[in-house]
Amino acid sequence: MQPVSRAAARYDNATIFFHWATAVLVVTQWLGAQTIDWFPRGPLRVDARSVHIVCGLLLAAVLVARIIWRLTGGRRLPPADDGLLGLAARATHWVLYILLAAMVLVGIGLTWARGDSIFNLFSIPAFDPGNRALADEVQDIHALIGWIILAVAGLHASAALVHRYLWRDQVLGRMLPRR
Ligand code: HEM
Ligand code: HEM
Repeated sequence: MQPVSRAAARYDNATIFFHWATAVLVVTQWLGAQTIDWFPRGPLRVDARSVHIVCGLLLAAVLVARIIWRLTGGRRLPPADDGLLGLAARATHWVLYILLAAMVLVGIGLTWARGDSIFNLFSIPAFDPGNRALADEVQDIHALIGWIILAVAGLHASAALVHRYLWRDQVLGRMLPRR
């Protein structure tokens, strides 16, 4: 297949929807997490953390749906670039899927390690009540994966923008809805 026609191909609408829903949720989660401690201790902070946990579960659902769709009906395109560049793009996509799955699992683990209340409506019992060290350790891992996702996704987004504005090809268009 010629590179031009490869780059001109487009993902299906569901894949495009899942991709951008994931991107928006990741950014929301990251920004949301930075603001939790701005709220005074008490019901407001519980609400802020609950929003983070509920959006995290939504991200988990989107990720599972996206992977199932990719393995079944979703359109899969050959790499837009040949050689090392194509390989790097594929590797980056794999790393992003793995990091997202790890983030969701560690996030759920963190909620369980801390024990929490969701909007003060119902509570999640702690795995080992009073074990602050465990919760802190899991939280550090969660924060670290968050930074790594930010860096890898930033690199990935920059590559898409380089394709668009420096190389002026249609690679970003593969992941944009048809106008
Ligand atoms: C890509 C998705 C996510 C990102 C980028 C993210 C990011 C973060 C960050 C940066 C923190 C602050 C850590 C710190 O500074 O110590 C945090 C805390 C937390 N996250 Fe996530 N998170 C994500 C998904 C999830 C999920 C799926 C859950 C659970 C279902 C979750 C539950 C929590 C909890 C309970 C905290 C502790 C909040 C607090 O200390 O008050 N996160 N998250
Ligand atoms: C947290 C944010 C993001 C995540 C987690 C993410 C994740 C991914 C993943 C996993 C794929 C592979 C799709 C597949 O073949 O299964 C992909 C493809 C793609 N993403 Fe992202 N993405 C993010 C943000 C962005 C942004 C901001 C842009 C544009 C500026 C972008 C542009 C693209 C493009 C153009 C493709 C298709 C590449 C190709 O066909 O070779 N992504 N993304």
